[in-house]
Order: sequence, then structure tokens, then C-alpha cells
Amino acid sequence: MKSLRPPQTPPEPSVIKVLLVDDIPETREQLRKILAFEADIEVVGAASTGREGVDLARELKPDIVLMDINMPDMNGIQATELINREVPTAAVIMMSVQSESDYLRKAMLAGARDFLTKPPQVDELYTTIRKVHESNAEIRRRYEMMDMTPAGPSGPGAHVRVAEGSRAGKVVVVYSPQGGVGVTTIATNVAAALMREGVKVLLVDCNLQFGDVGVFLNLQTNHHVADLTSTVDDLDDEVIDTFLTAHDSGLRVLLAPPRPEIAETIVPENVSRLVKALAEKFDFTVVDTSTSMDDLTIGLLDIADKIILVATPTLPAIKNVRLVLDVLDALEFPPEKAVFVLNRMQSERERGRISAEAIENNLKRQVAIQIPVDDRAMIAAVNRGAPLVAGDRSRSPTRELVELATRLHIDLIGKRKKWRKRSRCGPHGWAACLGTAEYRTRRIAERV
Ligand SMILES: Nc1ncnc2c1ncn2[C@@H]1O[C@H](COP(=O)(O)OP(=O)(O)O)[C@@H](O)[C@H]1O
Ligand SMILES: [Mg+2]
Repeated sequence: MKSLRPPQTPPEPSVIKVLLVDDIPETREQLRKILAFEADIEVVGAASTGREGVDLARELKPDIVLMDINMPDMNGIQATELINREVPTAAVIMMSVQSESDYLRKAMLAGARDFLTKPPQVDELYTTIRKVHESNAEIRRRYEMMDMTPAGPSGPGAHVRVAEGSRAGKVVVVYSPQGGVGVTTIATNVAAALMREGVKVLLVDCNLQFGDVGVFLNLQTNHHVADLTSTVDDLDDEVIDTFLTAHDSGLRVLLAPPRPEIAETIVPENVSRLVKALAEKFDFTVVDTSTSMDDLTIGLLDIADKIILVATPTLPAIKNVRLVLDVLDALEFPPEKAVFVLNRMQSERERGRISAEAIENNLKRQVAIQIPVDDRAMIAAVNRGAPLVAGDRSRSPTRELVELATRLHIDLIGKRKKWRKRSRCGPHGWAACLGTAEYRTRRIAERV
């Protein structure tokens, strides 16, 4: 029997776009010939120096870059670092002769995803390209989903600084009435995961007495919230630039005071005024908070566009969340202003576990994201002084943290098209340090 539906065209098989970067013309030619045999691989360009490689990567947006290490002008390591930062959807495979294992280690740290010994075996070349391409699928998917693939120099997201005052200015406050449930973990990771090319993010530590964002991100500075609360009416770009600590990734951070007694000198109202004023210069301002439901916290919740309410699946935490939800109702916040997140979720096999469904039924509130418990990963991230989202984003609990950031992005700003006109490229984001650091470290351990 004939189908009444119009014939469906099969989906286009996806082709892996490869950029070759090598200063020896014969090597480029040879690689081009070998790769031409494979239907799912297409060489989209070739560069003879590191600098040219970076330019072409920006322009052509390849999926894979086959990169030589030793080249004139800019070597493969620097080029890899730049490509990783500026074109995070492109995964670099380094090529080198065997004796360069030290270089290779540096290259992996710069963000290379794998390496091949020159001259590569044909089968190994194909397999490595496909494997790395597959392992980068999650990163590509996220950029595609948000339509955030960085544009080339001539594209709409070209590298031009945005005029100040034209930022989205959204404030996300992370709060829990219970200590130790993961507020700082979520604030730092969500801020880091919101970082994208063209998106400016600020993280403010408003846990004024015992803020530990500086520890989580391994940042040291003499500047902190109290420096700015006193001058909140005279904030200009220069003052802001001086007082906000800049992380290499482009994330800006305003830390809590270094000693608890300094918090006593700060007028709570000035903190929310400060956050509001700073937020105008950023697309997202993520705020870490203490557990107290005091004037400071209420002021912050008030100016928030979204509140991430965090709890662990334990009876006391749930009881306290109930109380907070009552406060939010009393403040007449619309229910959708708060996003309820469960952290440290145990596996279903764990005995005595309280399920998300039971919590939802009890609170009459939907759980937006469940973040699994993973002590090892969390401890390692804090010890490294880098957020978890700087590692492999396809693995839990990083995946859930990124998912939370993606939801916030979509809820608050929508897909890029809506606000692209207002936003141009700024700093490059964690994608630089991100990629998949854990994966790379594993590769180094395995192969170098
Ligand atoms: N999902 C998780 N799995 C395992 N440990 C976690 C998780 N989330 C947070 N932690 C750890 O719990 C501790 C408290 O987290 P933190 O973010 O400082 O909480 P809070 O800011 O609410 O006091 C930290 O050591 C952190 O690394
Ligand atoms: Mg904290």
C-alpha cells in the first residue's frame, strides 16, 4: 500500500570538517589525499603556519584541526590554545614526531584532544578523527542548541567589544537556607557554564562573612564587595575594572571580604544596589549567598530575575525549603521566579533515599534539575581551583550543572537570535580551559 505521506528525504549524513595546519606542503598534500578517500571526512582548508591556522579556524569553523607542533611564527601549542578558546566547537588533534613527548604534554594541556605520531598510520588517522569528533559531540550540540557557535571575523558575532549598557543584565541568585548543600558549587559552576563567546558573566560572592568563591576558583585579590558598596553611586567602568577580579576565562568575580568582621561594616541595602548596578554591565550576574534569610538576602532575592533554590534530599533541608517557599510567596514573587534544584542526589539503589518525586509531592513544587552526588569529582575540582564545568561536560554531575545553566540562559534570554543584535563577542569563556580537561589528562597519562 502506498503511503499518503510525502516521501521523506533521508537526513544528510554528517561530514566531519577538517582543517590541516602544517608548514610542510608535502605533508598537507599527503593528508589531504588520504582523507579524500573517506566519505564522512572533508578537508575544508589548509594552513602553513600556526597564525594562519587560527585565522582559518575562526573563519571555517572546522570540527577537527590536525595540527603540527613545530611551525614558523606561531607554534602548534599556542595555536591550539587560541583555537580552543575562540572556536570551542573545533577539536585539535596534535601531530608530532615521537621524540617530542614534552611538547606533546604541553599541547594536551593547551587543549589538544588527542595526538598522532608523524607520519600517521592511515587507519589510526581515520579512527582518531572520528573518535575525537564523537567525543566533542556534546560541546557542539550545546553550542548548536543555543545557536551560540562563535561566528567568524566577518560574522554577526565578530570580535568586537560590545557597547556598554547594552547587556542583558540578568541577575541569578543562588540560595539555600541550609549550609553545605552546594550553593557555592552551583553558583561557581553555573556562572562558568554561562560563559560563552559574546556573553559577559559576573560572579558576586555575597556570603559576606564566610564567602569561599575565592577558594573554589583559586583567586587571590585585595579587592572585595566592601570596596564597592561604599561607592555604589559613583561606579564607572574604570572603577569596576579595577575592583572586579578577572579570571583567565573572562569570568569576572567580586569576592566576599577576607575577614568576617568586615561584613559588619556593610549596609545590606547597598549590596543589592551594587549588584543591580554591576549587573547592567553584564549579561548574567550570578550571586552566591549565605544561609541567613536576612535583609541582605531578601534584598538580593528581590532584585533577582531567577532564584536557584538549592536543597539536598534530606528531611531538614526539605522542611527549610518549605519555609523559604512560604517567604517567597509572602513577598509575592511569581512561582516561576524560583528554580528548585536538588543536589547530592543518590543513586536509586541507595537505601533510605528520598526520591525527587516524594519531595515534589511534599512541596507541590517541581524539581528543575537533580544533581548527582560525586564526592571525588567535587573534591578534585575544589583542589584544582577550577569549576567542575571546566572538565568533561558530558559526565554527571557536570552535565546537570551545564544543563541548569542552559535552562537559565534560555529562560532569561532565550535563544541567541533574540538578543544577538545587542551582543557582540567579548571574552572567550571557559571553553578555553574547558574542553575536556579530564579527558585530556587521561590521555596524557595513557600515552605520554
Ligand atoms: N553534588 C555533589 N556531590 C558531592 N559533593 C558536593 C556536591 N555538591 C557540593 N558538594 C561538596 O559539598 C561541600 C559543600 O558545598 P558548597 O558548595 O560549599 O555548599 P554551600 O555553599 O551550600 O555551603 C563542598 O565540599 C562541595 O565540594
Ligand atoms: Mg557557600
